[in-house]
Order: sequence, then C-alpha cells, then structure tokens
Amino acid sequence: MEARQYSLYPINNRYLLPGTIPGNIIPLKSNYLPETQPEFTVEVANISHLFWAKEICDEMLASAIARGTGISKRTPQSIQLKMIQGEAVIAFAPDGKWVGFSYISSWEDGKFVSNSGLIVAPEFRKSGIGKKIKHKIFELSRQKYPAAKIFSLTTGLAVMKMNHELGFEPVTYSEITSDDAFWEGCKSCVNCPVLMSKGRKNCLCTALLYDPERKD
Ligand SMILES: CC(C)(COP(=O)(O)OP(=O)(O)OC[C@H]1O[C@@H](n2cnc3c(N)ncnc32)[C@H](O)[C@@H]1OP(=O)(O)O)[C@@H](O)C(=O)NCCC(=O)NCCS
Repeated sequence: MEARQYSLYPINNRYLLPGTIPGNIIPLKSNYLPETQPEFTVEVANISHLFWAKEICDEMLASAIARGTGISKRTPQSIQLKMIQGEAVIAFAPDGKWVGFSYISSWEDGKFVSNSGLIVAPEFRKSGIGKKIKHKIFELSRQKYPAAKIFSLTTGLAVMKMNHELGFEPVTYSEITSDDAFWEGCKSCVNCPVLMSKGRKNCLCTALLYDPERKD
C-alpha cells in the first residue's frame, strides 16, 4: 500500500492538514509539532546583544499597556546592564529576529533573586518559547546564586503556571525580599498607590517563591 505523506501548516500556532476546514482546526500537543517548527536559540545574553535593548524595552511597555496591567518600567540602559552582567536570557529565531527576553537581580547580598521582565515578541507567543526562556532564567538563577530564594511578581496566568511547574509557590510579600531597592522598581507601576496604601504587604501582583531548602 502506498504510504500517504501529510504536511502540517502552522496557522495561529495551530496546525492544519491540507484540505482541513479552518473551523475544524485541531490544536496539537507540542510533541506532535512537525520538524519544521523553528528552532529558537535561548542563551545567556552578553555584550553582543546590547543593540536589542530598546526593542525589548518598547515591547515590555507596549505589552503591559495592551494587557492593561501595571509594570515596573525599565530603561534600555538597565536592560543593557543586565546583558553586560550576564544576568539576562535572550532568544532568537533562526533568521536572527529577536524573540524573547528575561532577567534576574539579586537582593540582600544574594539571599534573594528575582526573575523579572519575561517578554516574548507577539508573533512568537504560544509556541512554547516563553516556557523555554523561563526555564533558562531559572537555571541561570540556580547556577549563579545556588543558595538564594528565587521569586517572581506577576499578574499573568502564563507566568504563574510556568513558575508552578518549576516548584514555585504563592506566598505573601512578607516572604520575599524587603530590600528597598527592589520595591523602588514598583514606583513606576500604575498600581504603586495600591502597594503603598497596603504598607507594601500586598498588591495586584501575586508573589511566587522557590525556596531551595524547602523539603517536599
Ligand atoms: C506571558 C508570555 C511571556 C508567555 O509566552 P509564550 O511564549 O506565549 O508562552 P508559552 O507558549 O511558552 O506557554 C507556556 C504556558 O503558558 C500558557 N499560556 C501562554 N499564554 C497564556 C495566556 N495568555 N493565558 C494563559 N495561559 C497562557 C500556555 O498555554 C502554556 O501552558 P502549558 O504549559 O500548560 O501548555 C507572553 O505571552 C508575553 O510576552 N506576554 C506579555 C508580557 C507578559 O505578560 N509578561 C509576563 C509579565 S510577569
């Protein structure tokens, strides 16, 4: 019997067999994705990536406005500093397009590390790349600061899910850093008055914490 060959075409991150009616698009699990799925590179950022800081910064702001959420505003200079310090992760498509970014910062002499600024360029979302960046930034945090408690503040469900998979748990703000320099970053967020009115005890973001000493 002649073997039939099927090709799969990505449409809005879903895949169609030739001749399939668009209304019947069936989302496939990532392990069924064809080999043509672009191989993104995810690497620790360095000085060769400084050029991308402005685009990353602009996308962070545009995405926060689109979601209608608060954000701690970053400058291209602060993003570049993270790249130079080896405290950021950047992803690219095979054609060299910028795909995503995230960075870490340490607080209280390395007692805590924050994972922040996770962003994926809109055209590449829902393809699994956000999760890959998240894993790489977690790995970088563990490598550079093995004894640190790692935390993230977010309003996003996707980030909550990714962190949960890595062993993060929701906590109150009393469990994360009390370093004033960290909270200073919240001053540029539209929700800062809420945070301040609660004496920095809570706000609209959920705090997620990974404690390396936690016994399961
Ligand atoms: C959040 C963001 C980084 C996710 O990136 P992504 O590449 O689309 O995520 P992935 O494809 O790797 O998906 C990872 C998981 O999150 C889920 N997810 C992705 N976007 C989601 C959304 N908007 N709502 C709920 N879940 C979502 C996926 O279904 C997947 O779950 P699974 O592991 O159970 O299958 C991206 O949407 C983005 O840059 N958004 C704007 C900036 C932002 O919100 N950053 C977070 C600030 S804390």
